[in-house]
Amino acid sequence: MSAHVACRLDELASGAARRFDVEGRSIAVVRIGDDVYAIGDTCTHGEVSLSEGEVIADRKELECWKHGSAFSLVTGEPFTLPAVLPVPVYDAAVVDGNIVITIGQQEHAS
Ligand code: FES
Repeated sequence: MSAHVACRLDELASGAARRFDVEGRSIAVVRIGDDVYAIGDTCTHGEVSLSEGEVIADRKELECWKHGSAFSLVTGEPFTLPAVLPVPVYDAAVVDGNIVITIGQQEHAS
């Protein structure tokens, strides 16, 4: 298990998503209020970056900009077609004002 500081919390606006590359993985980090989430950044339907899509804050989803599949920030599951496979989910937390992503056992296989 390894922890990585992505950025400071105040560098990511609420409702925004940003891609970080950690240990060879592309990870989309999303902030909603004071909560942070981290899921795999690559849509399972196509090779596009989910962090370039829209955050749907009230449903805790990140929508792929290309064909509109919305992925849960909590489970990584797509709620809408055409994607059918989940993206990985990573542990994300705010520690001393920093967004920290942990790569480890809690990651869901995709
Ligand atoms: S590439 Fe993401 S839904 Fe098609």
